[in-house]
Amino acid sequence: MIKDLAAREILDSRGNPTVEVSVFTQLGEFVSSVASGASTGIHEAKEIRDGGERYGGKGVLTAVKNVNEKIAPLLIGKEENPEEADKIMIDADGTNDKSNLGANAMLGVSMSVFKAAAAKENLPLFRYLSSYFSFKENIPVPCFNVINGGAHGAGGTAFQEFMIVPQKESFSENLRFATDFYQHLKNTILRKEEYPASFANVGDEGGFVPEIQSAEEVLSLLLSVDRCPVIIDVAASEFFKENAYIYGGIRRSKEEMISLYRKLSGEFSLLGLEDPLEENDFSGWHELKEKMSGLLIIGDDLLTTNIQRMEKAKENDSCNAMIIKINQIGTVSEAIRAAKKAKEFGWRTVVSHRSGETNDDFIADLAVGTGSEYIKAGAPARGERVAKYNRLLKIEKQINSKT
Ligand code: PGA
Ligand code: ZN
Repeated sequence: MIKDLAAREILDSRGNPTVEVSVFTQLGEFVSSVASGASTGIHEAKEIRDGGERYGGKGVLTAVKNVNEKIAPLLIGKEENPEEADKIMIDADGTNDKSNLGANAMLGVSMSVFKAAAAKENLPLFRYLSSYFSFKENIPVPCFNVINGGAHGAGGTAFQEFMIVPQKESFSENLRFATDFYQHLKNTILRKEEYPASFANVGDEGGFVPEIQSAEEVLSLLLSVDRCPVIIDVAASEFFKENAYIYGGIRRSKEEMISLYRKLSGEFSLLGLEDPLEENDFSGWHELKEKMSGLLIIGDDLLTTNIQRMEKAKENDSCNAMIIKINQIGTVSEAIRAAKKAKEFGWRTVVSHRSGETNDDFIADLAVGTGSEYIKAGAPARGERVAKYNRLLKIEKQINSKT
C-alpha cells in the first residue's frame, strides 16, 4: 500500500531544476527523478516550470506542490498498482497535454509507483514490466551519441546527434567497443592540426562538440576512427524555419534534404535517421521512407510517444521505428501502451533518455522490459549517461545467469 508520497526539487545534468518523487510502502522508499528535453517536440506533454526570476524561470516548485498537495491525497492508502495510479492522475489532470498537474509532476509519481509495484512482486523492474505487460525481454542494442550538434552543441553541425551503433554479440561487448571508439575519437580530434582543442569539449549528452558544419565531414571523422554503423538524429524541426530547412547556411526544400540523406547513405554506413524531416510532415516522411528503404526511419518529435500521432504515422506509412520517451507522454503506462502499439505496427522501438538527465536508470529496465531493440542514452561517458549503461550491464548478467 502507498503509505506516503512526497516530491522535492533537485537539479538535472544541465543544472536545471527537476522533480524527484519518493513513494513509501511497507517495503521502503522508492525514489525517481524526471528528465527534460532541449529540442522538445511541440506535441509533447507539458512540464510545468514556475517562471519568474528564480532559476531563470525554470524552477519546478509548482509541480512539486502539485505532487504534494493534489496527487498525494489521491494515492495515499491505495495499493501500489501503477496503471490505476496513472489513471487516477490522468483523470485528475483532465487535459490532453498534462498541463494542469504537469507531466513532470505526474511522471515522477508514475515511475516511483512502478518501482514500488515491482518490489512488492519481488521482481527486478525489467522483469515486472515484461511479465505484467507481456513483452519478450530483450537487451537492447545501444546507440552512443558521440558527436553533439544542434540544440545540444555549440555552433557545430545543425544535425543534433551522431550515434554509433556497434554490432557485437552482446551488450557488454558493444559498450566496450563504444568506449574504445570514444577515446580514439577524442585523440583523433586532438591530433588534428586544423582542429582547435575546444573541438574535444563535450555537449549535453557527453558527445564531442566540434564546430564542423557539414554532416559529411563529421561522418568522415567517425569513419577515420573505426567502421561502425551510424544513426543520425537530425532533429530537423529545430532548423525548419519558414518552410525551409536551414542547413549549412542554405535554405533547403524537403526534396533537397532527401537527396542529401541519400548521398550520405551512399557514402557512409548509415543505419537510420531520426526526425529527418519536420514534425508535422507525415507525407514527406512517407516519401523519404520510400526512397530510403533498408534504413530505420525513426519518429521522435513526429510521434512524441503518443498513440494518436502513431496512428496518423501508420496511416501515412511515415516511419518504421519510434523513440519511446516517458516524459513526452507523462506516465509510464501510456509509454508502455505506445511500445505495445509499435510492436503491433511492426515498428522497432528505441527507448531514449533526454538531454537533461538525472542518475535515475529507469529507462534501462524499460528498454529490456518492453523488448525494445535499441536504447539511446548518450555517450559512454558522464554519470547520468553511464548510469543507464551500467544498469544494462547488471541486467545482462542477471538474464544470462537466469536469476
Ligand atoms: P532532447 O534530445 O532530450 O533535447 O529532446 C533528445 C532527442 O531529440 O532524441
Ligand atoms: Zn530525437
